[in-house]
Amino acid sequence: MPVFISQAPAKTILFGEHAAVYGFPAIAVPLNSLSLKVSFLAKPDQPQGTWMIRNKDTGMTALLSELPESDPVRKIIQFTASELNVRQLPAAELLISSTIPVASGLGSSAALAVALIRGVSQFLGFNLPPQRISELAFEMEKIQHGNPSGIDNSVIAFNQAIFFVKNQSIEFLSLKSPLTIVLANTGIHSLTREVVGEVRSKRECEPERIDALLSEIGQIALKAREKLVQMDLEAIGSLMNENHALLQQLGVSCPELDRLVDTARKAGALGAKLCGSGKGGNMVALTTPERAESLQKAFLAAGAVQAISTEVK
Ligand code: MEV
Repeated sequence: MPVFISQAPAKTILFGEHAAVYGFPAIAVPLNSLSLKVSFLAKPDQPQGTWMIRNKDTGMTALLSELPESDPVRKIIQFTASELNVRQLPAAELLISSTIPVASGLGSSAALAVALIRGVSQFLGFNLPPQRISELAFEMEKIQHGNPSGIDNSVIAFNQAIFFVKNQSIEFLSLKSPLTIVLANTGIHSLTREVVGEVRSKRECEPERIDALLSEIGQIALKAREKLVQMDLEAIGSLMNENHALLQQLGVSCPELDRLVDTARKAGALGAKLCGSGKGGNMVALTTPERAESLQKAFLAAGAVQAISTEVK
């Protein structure tokens, strides 16, 4: 079998992070300008079960069996093979490379799960539909993040804009025209498991206040779905601003994210908010194609370690 590549995009949440965990609506879009790739090469001359894993970004090379049991790559490959009832893996070499920053709110762990599950199953002769890939990736996300909503694996496995409500069937959104967004990275790594856990603890202490905030965030996602269908950019932008204010009250922002959100607004963005679990990572600003470059420059001048302008379809 020649080399084949399995690829998965990054994602950003336009509305509803954290609220999604508690069953409130949220909206996420794939970001195809960032991706994680796994290339598969069959090694028929090697003994069965020999899987060599190389990571182009970290320089790591190891046999699958030598990776720690807790390593996500090992877990995902073994889980996929076991779900497919494949006991002996034909020998292979895998090369993983990614342009998605890790622990930064852009779905790097879900992209790894989706790309590996799709690639491993294809390599073993199975052609799984996106729904099944998403379900398997969700199992891996639960190990990684504790109690995720399933939004990351869904948007990445389907590679389409989604209106998401936990445990309900996914609604795909078709955008009339592309949205121009700029992502700015604080450079602070933040673990979804920890931030989601902090929100859970707060909710236990102050159930009424936290539930009111989460429900308001869900209402914003509902309004945003309508505005996205109409492509009312001004309204979408101001809903993003409102969503950020609620995430601040939820305690998941940080001074670095707030500074970049402020920079976005001063530089003429239509709206801006943190994206993903928060407490670091990225924020997302909605803008126009004409203003994207100046916004990118403003973010870098304000201390962002990376600013990416991209179109969302
Ligand atoms: C993480 O990308 C989004 C969160 O809402 C967690 C989740 O929905 O699983 C913070």
